[in-house]
Amino acid sequence: MTEYRRITAGEPEKIYIALSALDKACVGADGWSEASFRSECGKDNGIVLAAFEDGELAGLLSGYTAVGEADITSVAVAPAYRRMGIARELVERFEAMLPEDTESIFLEVRVSNAGAIALYRKCGFDELSVRSRFYSSPEEDALVMKKELRKG
Ligand SMILES: CC(C)(COP(=O)(O)OP(=O)(O)OC[C@H]1O[C@@H](n2cnc3c(N)ncnc32)[C@H](O)[C@@H]1OP(=O)(O)O)[C@@H](O)C(=O)NCCC(=O)NCCS
Repeated sequence: MTEYRRITAGEPEKIYIALSALDKACVGADGWSEASFRSECGKDNGIVLAAFEDGELAGLLSGYTAVGEADITSVAVAPAYRRMGIARELVERFEAMLPEDTESIFLEVRVSNAGAIALYRKCGFDELSVRSRFYSSPEEDALVMKKELRKG
């Protein structure tokens, strides 16, 4: 059974190393370093969620809340555990943890990343705009997606 939990500050060092390794394996050079994960996990407005299979890190989601809105910065699931619903569950859990006054969630995704775009659509995100040459290595446009929560 998949175990989900929020990762905070002061966890054993190996968890931040595993988060960084999974992020880099899934998104390449744009993946966060171990130090970035440790810092994000320690912030009041940062939310880092992890999914474990038999004690092994299988998926992650990082995001943060700002005034009235939230952002998902990364979602990554190890290849062996894909298409099992882990990413969708992580997005739903992130949404459930947001403050009551959060009106919308934003994210950016590479325009060529059809799998992730399909995931986000399934989670209720709509396409908002395109950010030209947002990504490097390789250079690519970002699709900005938004989900209205209508909670506030
Ligand atoms: C994108 C990613 C996070 C999806 O993770 P996942 O756990 O396999 O996704 P889920 O199993 O929760 O998928 C839920 C739904 O999203 C859609 N979906 C997910 N991956 C898909 C793919 N590769 N192709 C088409 N649709 C896809 C499907 O509708 C799927 O439902 P279904 O399996 O019942 O058809 C994973 O493929 C990944 O880590 N990719 C590399 C990193 C990345 O691109 N991250 C996103 C950019 S920030």
